[in-house]
This record gives sequence, C-alpha cells and structure tokens, in this order.
Amino acid sequence: CGSAYHTGVVGKYLIESYANIPVNVEVASEYRYKKCFYDKDTLVILVSQSGETADTLAALRKAKEDGITTMAIVNVLGSSIAREADYTIYIKAGFEIAVATTKAYLAQLAIFSLITLYLGVTNKVISNKEYEEITNEINKMPQYIKETIKDETYLPVAKKIFSKKEIFFIGRGIDYALCLEASLKLKEISYINSVAYQAGELKHGTISLIEENTPVIAISTDEDLNEKTISNIKEVKARGAYVILVTNTAPQEKFYDELIIIKKLHPIMESILTIIPLQL
Ligand code: F6R
Repeated sequence: CGSAYHTGVVGKYLIESYANIPVNVEVASEYRYKKCFYDKDTLVILVSQSGETADTLAALRKAKEDGITTMAIVNVLGSSIAREADYTIYIKAGFEIAVATTKAYLAQLAIFSLITLYLGVTNKVISNKEYEEITNEINKMPQYIKETIKDETYLPVAKKIFSKKEIFFIGRGIDYALCLEASLKLKEISYINSVAYQAGELKHGTISLIEENTPVIAISTDEDLNEKTISNIKEVKARGAYVILVTNTAPQEKFYDELIIIKKLHPIMESILTIIPLQL
C-alpha cells in the first residue's frame, strides 16, 4: 500500500532487469480480492513498515491460503505480518514517527537493492566485476546519502514552487516508480495536488493540463531512456512548463529551468539517492 507499494514498483524494475525474474506488483487492497495465477515457484513479498496494515496482512493470508511461500519486508519487530510470513527481512530503520515515512522508504529500497544483488549474482546476471562495484558503493552509501541530504540546491527550487496548486512528475521505467513516491509525498506533506505520469504517456491527453509555468519535475537517470525523456520534457516545455530536471548527468543543452544533479551510481543503488531531493 502507499509508499510500501512504491518501493515494490522499484523492486520490480530492479529484479526484472538485474536478476532476470518476472515480477508483478500489486496494491494489497486490490490483490486481496483478485483472482491470482501462480506457478509453484511463485514467491509473494509483502512490504509494510508497520507490519500491521490490514490490506497487506489480508494479502499475506490470501497468499498462504493459496499455498504460496511468503516473505515480509517490515520495520516493526514482531508485527503481525513479520510473525505470519514464512520469511521476514527487517529493514531496521528505527521507529518511523513521520507520516512521510522517508527513512522506511529508503531502507525498503536498500533491501530491494540487496535482494536484487543476491538474486542477480545467483542467477549469473551480475558479473563478479559488477558485484565488486556495487558492494563498494554499498559501503559508501552512508556518506553518499549525507552528501545528498546536505546539497543546497533543493531549497531554492522548493521556494519557487511552494505556492503552486498543481505539480506534475514525469519519468520512465524506474524513474517513474520514483515519481510515484515523490508525488505521494508532495500531496500528503505539502497539500499541493500532484500526479506522477509515465513520461511517454503525458502526450496522450494529460499534457492538455500543462499551462504557462506549471511545474513539471522530470526524473531522468536511466541512460537508455534519457533521450526519450528529454523529448517528453521538450513537449511540456513547449507548452510553457517550468521544468525541474533531476538527473545524474548534466545535459549539454539547457532545455530545463532548474537542474538537480544526483551522484551517478550503479542503477541497482542509485534510486536510494535520487529520491532524497524529492523527499526534501
Ligand atoms: C506514506 C505512508 C503510507 C504507507 C502505507 C503502508 O507516507 O506512510 O502510504 O506507506 O499506508 O503502510 P505500511 O508500510 O505501514 O504497511
């Protein structure tokens, strides 16, 4: 549900791309009532900070009734979901006391990165060289996260858009998954309406809502999709959007209004940094 679901969407992109295993992500309140088609090797992973969300607990019980192995990624020790799942990974984020659930979301992302790394190596999709690169980055993540939090470029941008009534987030692939969380945070913490859109989908209708100075926050960290995302940014720019680009590589051409640069890491790790400016 909610932010927990959004980490599952990131997990989907990572596990499919780097462990070569197909992943379906479901909102628990839908999954618990739907007809499911499993094969005997299906694993159902339940993500829940509190470990008590009723829909997620019901989803766990449904999977178990269907005879499917379950694994929980939870924060609260001894919570219902932790107790009833066949396997449990604790995210150890400490007491989550903020509605924004920023640290639990980050810790859940980290767990999905580690699960992807393990499965990717086991399935021989990730090479030893790549494994070394990623484990080096894992060891430096606390420092990278501190540097990203201290970055002074986010506040001036927030000061330019805080009075807006609507803000759009666009991205492709894993960047779209991050847009989902960024949009939810903005709505529930600042009460500004916002929506996350797949960048390629905007032209199929919603672009009509983009007016002069409508803020559009575009996330583009996937180099394979970058060119396409840039063309989507130019489409909204042509309609007068105020474009804030969040990326890991400064573009040659200035097609944006504001630029937020994230340290470029291996794609398995980078989402943990990319979400921080958006959370802040
Ligand atoms: C977002 C938020 C909610 C939770 C969702 C699931 O700020 O806190 O969207 O992510 O209600 O809660 P848990 O993770 O406790 O199952």
